[in-house]
Amino acid sequence: MKKVLFVCLGNICRSPLAEGIFQKLIEEAGLQDKIFVDSAGTSSYHIGELPDYRTCQVAEKNGIILTHRARQVRKEDFKEFDYILAADKSNLQHLQNLQSQVSYSKARLHLIRDWEGKNLEVPDPYYGSMKDFEQGYVLLEKALKNFVEYLQKSIGEVAQKTH
Ligand code: 4NP
Repeated sequence: MKKVLFVCLGNICRSPLAEGIFQKLIEEAGLQDKIFVDSAGTSSYHIGELPDYRTCQVAEKNGIILTHRARQVRKEDFKEFDYILAADKSNLQHLQNLQSQVSYSKARLHLIRDWEGKNLEVPDPYYGSMKDFEQGYVLLEKALKNFVEYLQKSIGEVAQKTH
């Protein structure tokens, strides 16, 4: 089982949407028993809340119902998750600082768009318009398709080695 955690600032816009899209993609790829997904925020601003209504709207338009409750990243996440993917560089920096404070971490830290190019971010839509949320969906879907392909290959290679 590979575990993936998506991280943004509030855990109410980008990362719960990433979680929902990724869950849909792994189900379509038949990987739901091999991959576990969750999301979290670097801030404590919205702990316990459902995603922003604009995030839910964009998700629903695409057949995804979001039920995640916001939580903050914790040190144990670095022990539990294989991949921790940040929406932007500021969140990645926060994760790198936190990782340097834990005694053991198996997590590989990346930007969500790392499989597309260097230093690409998913912009924060919170103070933007509905269009920014729509654009966020498109960016995330593209990035996550790439990441699922990458995971499929790496899981396939491990399976081959153990046969
Ligand atoms: P997210 O968006 O990091 O994609 O969940 C934000 C949500 C809330 C805030 C900022 C960004 N905020 O400042 O409350």
